[in-house]
Amino acid sequence: MGSRVLVFLLILYVHVFDTISQTDPNDFAVLKSLMDIWENLPPNWKGFDPCGSNWDGIGCTKSRVTSITLANVDLKGQLSSDIPSLTELGMLDLSYNKRLTGSIPRSFGDLKKLTNLILVGCGLTGPIPDTIGSLQRLIYLSLNSNSFSGPIPASIGNLSNLYWLDLADNKLDGTIPVSHGTTPGLDNLVNTKHFHFGQNELSGTIPPNLFSSNMTLIHVLFESNQLTGSLPSTLGLVQTLEAVRFDRNQLSGPVPSNINNLTNVNELFLSNNRLTGLVPNLTGMILLQYLDMSNNSFDASDAPSWFSTLQSLTTLMMDSTQLRGHVPVDLFSLSNLQTVVLRNNRLNGTLDIGTSYSNQLQLINLQNNLIDAFTERVGGYNADSMTIILVSNPVCEESGEAKSYCMLSKLNSSYSTPPNNCIPIQCSSDQISSPTCQCAYPYTGTLFFRAPSFSDLGNTTNYVALQNSMVDSFQSHQLPVDSVSLSNPRKNNYLELSLDIFPSGQNYFNRSGISQVANMLSNQTLKPPSWFGPYFFIGEQYNKFSEAATGSNNSSSIGIIIGATVGGCVLLLLLLLAGVYAFRQKKRAQRATEKNNPFAHWDPDKGSGSIPQLKGARNFSFEELKKCTQNFSEANEIGSGGYGKVYRGTLPSGQLIAIKRAQQESMQGALEFKTEIELLSRVHHKNVVSLVGFCYGRGEEMLIYEYVPNGSLKDCLSGKSGIRLDWTRRLKVTLGAARGLAYLHELADPPIIHRDIKSNNILLDERLNAKVSDFGLSKPMGDNEKGQVTHITTQVKGTMGYLDPEYYMTQQLTEKSDVYSFGVLMLELITARRPIERGKYIVREVRMAMDKTKDLYNLHEIVDPVIVLGVLKGFEKFMDIAMRCLEESGVDRPTMGEVVKEIENIMQIAGLNPNVESATTSASYEEVSKGSFLHPYNSEAFEYSGAIEPSKIEPQ
Ligand SMILES: *[C@@H]1O[C@H](CO)[C@@H](O)[C@H](O)[C@H]1NC(C)=O
Ligand SMILES: *[C@@H]1O[C@H](CO)[C@@H](O)[C@H](O)[C@H]1NC(C)=O
Ligand SMILES: *[C@@H]1O[C@H](CO)[C@@H](O)[C@H](O)[C@H]1NC(C)=O
Ligand SMILES: *[C@@H]1O[C@H](CO)[C@@H](O)[C@H](O)[C@H]1NC(C)=O
Repeated sequence: MGSRVLVFLLILYVHVFDTISQTDPNDFAVLKSLMDIWENLPPNWKGFDPCGSNWDGIGCTKSRVTSITLANVDLKGQLSSDIPSLTELGMLDLSYNKRLTGSIPRSFGDLKKLTNLILVGCGLTGPIPDTIGSLQRLIYLSLNSNSFSGPIPASIGNLSNLYWLDLADNKLDGTIPVSHGTTPGLDNLVNTKHFHFGQNELSGTIPPNLFSSNMTLIHVLFESNQLTGSLPSTLGLVQTLEAVRFDRNQLSGPVPSNINNLTNVNELFLSNNRLTGLVPNLTGMILLQYLDMSNNSFDASDAPSWFSTLQSLTTLMMDSTQLRGHVPVDLFSLSNLQTVVLRNNRLNGTLDIGTSYSNQLQLINLQNNLIDAFTERVGGYNADSMTIILVSNPVCEESGEAKSYCMLSKLNSSYSTPPNNCIPIQCSSDQISSPTCQCAYPYTGTLFFRAPSFSDLGNTTNYVALQNSMVDSFQSHQLPVDSVSLSNPRKNNYLELSLDIFPSGQNYFNRSGISQVANMLSNQTLKPPSWFGPYFFIGEQYNKFSEAATGSNNSSSIGIIIGATVGGCVLLLLLLLAGVYAFRQKKRAQRATEKNNPFAHWDPDKGSGSIPQLKGARNFSFEELKKCTQNFSEANEIGSGGYGKVYRGTLPSGQLIAIKRAQQESMQGALEFKTEIELLSRVHHKNVVSLVGFCYGRGEEMLIYEYVPNGSLKDCLSGKSGIRLDWTRRLKVTLGAARGLAYLHELADPPIIHRDIKSNNILLDERLNAKVSDFGLSKPMGDNEKGQVTHITTQVKGTMGYLDPEYYMTQQLTEKSDVYSFGVLMLELITARRPIERGKYIVREVRMAMDKTKDLYNLHEIVDPVIVLGVLKGFEKFMDIAMRCLEESGVDRPTMGEVVKEIENIMQIAGLNPNVESATTSASYEEVSKGSFLHPYNSEAFEYSGAIEPSKIEPQ
């Protein structure tokens, strides 16, 4: 009772002080009530202005609390039914707090603005309330790894915006809800990409209407439940599927034949069921990499023909599946093959792995079959890198001498991140030496990969790629991470990896550091290389925070505040006076700016287009943009930088747009803004991002561009966006970017020098057409006589690493400075390294290593491992042109027009038609699947930008 009264007094008090607190009083009161019931809150939860004084874990927009991110801070308590009073809350992430117990209050259904609800790995119990179906904005729902019980609420079917649904690893029971009549069901979730329901106690049959051709699922994971009946044939209608797990259930009956129609599937797990009938025909699953159908009751059959045709196959597991006849030799020449397990069958004849077997082959286990001979070739196979097991076959029973393949041996695949060119140090107490050889308290946990596409756990390249992508992601989100270390890969139901994350700057993480790092993992902001497949993370408790342990000491702080109320009344009068004064000043300032505003008297509604001279770009009102970005919600934020933020929006016509909204500090004067939009509106080329319109006024400057779905080239190269760029694609991207830039230099009127060519500013559309973007620094070239372009002297601007040294020295800008930056970009495309990485300048590194007399110009070490294994047709010519772009003196560099011609030549050498559009990213698997690391979850990267970044605090 007492606490209610106090909260009421607080609200009253804070209303009075509204003028000096930046936080909405109701929101403050809710947080204050959380302080009463939660232990171990961040020590800086003090005072009464969470937004203004940046409370750890609290994100605000204007005065409203929009996110709570308190992951892995050992929060203790229960979910409060007061939380829904935070009516603007968009993200709630309380993952990895094992002492957060109790159930989800029904009132959570009132969180109308919630987009991300993330409660992974807590101690939560009880049923998931059906009110969850009222969260209309929800995009991301992760409740996995708790102890929730009861059925999956059918109302989840109402969440039409849901992208990610993870209820795995709980104690959910009952049947899978599907719609009937007016009752919703999971089949209504046509926009959802992820169904993760594994490791529960779901029972009953899989309803046929759970799946339809309207769905866009990419991961359907129902492993380790108690499902019965047969696999419905409707599963074969979900063309988008990439990973499918129904293993470890009690499914019976035949596998529907149209499963063969799922041509995008990479991982298929049907093992440990009671499936009958013939082994299914999987010839059509041309991208299949990992297949496990072990332990079923199929009819006896010969090895199916697809054993030798599925070119992407890494792993074939068909233990106890009644196979007979002989093992085709062609199986072993599938070039990505790593593991073949065909134990406990009736395979007979001679085992011959041929001479051209996959160099990744690691294990062939044919234990307990009827093999009576093994063809040993001259030189044999290398028993150190490959294990063959023929124990309990006639060949082993008869042979007197102990052949290595007649012994059971256990694969020993270990890995542990080695020190990075340094000598590990002996650390005191429980600190650990990091990969960069510093003693620190790492944040530790376990990564679980639910359906990886590979089975060779000893392949270092995979782990190195994972480490690098993690460090890059953390650092690009400005989190205090120095390095990460992976160790102890092990395969249980999932592939598990121990993860240690080391802090930078100091030898421990503080609370907000841990929470933000944990949030990147719980919210899937961190994307491992695509071939690792879907993952989740469980963090361990971290108790090395620097700050003294916090008792939130509520009663005394409330006492102080109430005491202050009396004094506050006097202050109030002063504040009122100050307010009136400020208001007058503001009016005065407004009048002054209007005078200098070229838009001031321009009324777009009167159709008098006379002031801004725009071709094809229109003027948007603030309200219009507000509406199409859901009030510039964080969920729609797709980027940010020094200039401000970029939002995604949808126009009423359905057209997607990207809105670049300048923040106060980076706004330009009206005249400059007008010049810029006039310039941009004249630029129209397939390889240049086009301006759709602008919004000016009311303290806003926004540029509206076409939306380019696949993000920046930088994200692609770093593996962040999950799109694999093979050599062919890289050539296409280079050509597109070169054409865009050549257009700006040679055909735009007036010609434009971009001044900031870099991989960040090359965007990729759904067909991976490159589009040059971001003209923030661009300059029209002075055209004194038609076409006669001279240089301009300017203050040097650009991005370190890409900057033309000649321009830097002379301050004279010519289009050849862009050519230099383009040369750097070409090296970046070859190496997937940033221009300056760990203090090394890419141009210098390449120049030093390059030896034209050698194969690949002696650049094996530097070329991106992702492409170096493939055939790089035209590589040398590509390097030649890149190095010409990087000549010291501008006059020695080619023009962009020449660069375009050279690259077109290279493409012809590589057997590609430079003028043919590539297929959409989601459809072009075939082309991609030839390398050793294959694609998977392409479509994911962008749809995901709905996920919110850790606690963002917008300046007022
Ligand atoms: C698929 O969508 C169409 C149109 O939106 C609808 O008419 C149809 O009933 C849906 N089919 C299924 C199987 O849900
Ligand atoms: C397989 O998919 C194709 C294309 O999506 C479709 O036209 C065809 O009817 C499907 N076949 C079966 C057996 O479902
Ligand atoms: C298997 O499916 C393919 C189509 O993907 C078909 O061409 C082939 O005839 C089928 N094989 C058998 C044995 O049914
Ligand atoms: C192997 O098994 C097949 C089918 O069971 C049988 O037809 C064949 O004769 C056997 N071959 C040998 C060499 O035993």
